[in-house]
Amino acid sequence: MDADLPGRIRDRFPIFERLVYVNSCSQGALSDAVRQSYHDYLRDWDERGAPWDYWVEKTEQARTSFAGLVNAEPGEVAVTASVSAGVSALLSGLRFDGGRDTIVVSDLEFPTVGQIAHAQELLGRRVVHVPATGASVPLEHFERALDERTALVCITAICYRNGSRPELEEVTRLAHERGALVLVDAYQAVGAVPVDVRAIGCDFLAAGALKYLLGSAGIAFLYCRRELVGEILPTATGWFADRDIFEMDIHDYSPASTARRFEAGTPPVPSIYAAVAGIELMKEIGIAETAHHVRGLNDLLIAGIDELGGRVVTPRDPARRGPLIAVAATDEHALVEALAREGIVTSSRDGNLRLSAHCYNTRQDVEVVLEALARHRRLLAG
Ligand SMILES: Cc1ncc(COP(=O)(O)O)c(C=O)c1O
Repeated sequence: MDADLPGRIRDRFPIFERLVYVNSCSQGALSDAVRQSYHDYLRDWDERGAPWDYWVEKTEQARTSFAGLVNAEPGEVAVTASVSAGVSALLSGLRFDGGRDTIVVSDLEFPTVGQIAHAQELLGRRVVHVPATGASVPLEHFERALDERTALVCITAICYRNGSRPELEEVTRLAHERGALVLVDAYQAVGAVPVDVRAIGCDFLAAGALKYLLGSAGIAFLYCRRELVGEILPTATGWFADRDIFEMDIHDYSPASTARRFEAGTPPVPSIYAAVAGIELMKEIGIAETAHHVRGLNDLLIAGIDELGGRVVTPRDPARRGPLIAVAATDEHALVEALAREGIVTSSRDGNLRLSAHCYNTRQDVEVVLEALARHRRLLAG
């Protein structure tokens, strides 16, 4: 834990004057920088009229900012309105040839990934689920699920339900050995832990700016490894995916030679301003430092929940968890409400309370949460 980290930055997040905010897995706290970015959007609109060229430039800034974050090149990144939009565009163009008709989906995926995969069944593709054991999907389960029919493996970098972290690099290596491609959903990881597409070795990675990147709703990114971009022809498309956006030609389909081919229509301009501000702020704060700090806070949190006789659902091994800690509850909605009445903002999924600290949280926040959980002990499952 780094006590200095929140000390340096917490006053940039006014919510802490009123609340104990431990819900960054849902949305990051609003910072002065992101608030200012919305003012900048309105100022530019007002001062320049319809500054389209400038907005296109701003989109490029978001692309470059995200590319830098995950160690990709800007030409490997699409700026989309959601993870769903990026993944849908990707799957609409992925070739399922050579007898490879199957999408393998880990059982810890976010709903949108599973649903987009199943939509492909309408086109004759097959979906195979990889079951979890407890909070995690063991590597052996992927070994059993992948075969010569597997075209794509979908795996989440950190599970939104229970905070578990799979063996991403190993699963990716295994998929490649079996001739399949890998899509990582890194929404719950970007901004919270270092994410490097080259180190993971994945082919595709999708994430949004809303959570640990401190941005807003309405924007996400899709990374596509440069060697694959040209092979994929999305049929879910639009004029911002065209080779030349301003060509305005309705007589052909000529997608961009870069990952911009996964984009669609008018970009989410206000969200782009916020995303650039949020990503740059997280880079300035330091993501590796944040991950280290939050790991320390979560060690304290887990020890405190053990002392209360509660049950932590998230894996205990620090290598297998990220910022999100899930705690079994007897009535998770009642627990979230009880904590909210005491000024503590949390969320829930699947019968568990979700507690997700970030760079701005302090040891004292953890203590306040633990004291409140002690008062509501009956709502914790043993
Ligand atoms: C892991 C994960 N994937 C995807 C999403 C959402 O994706 P979209 O941008 O399509 O709403 C979330 C949001 O909660 C998430 O936690």
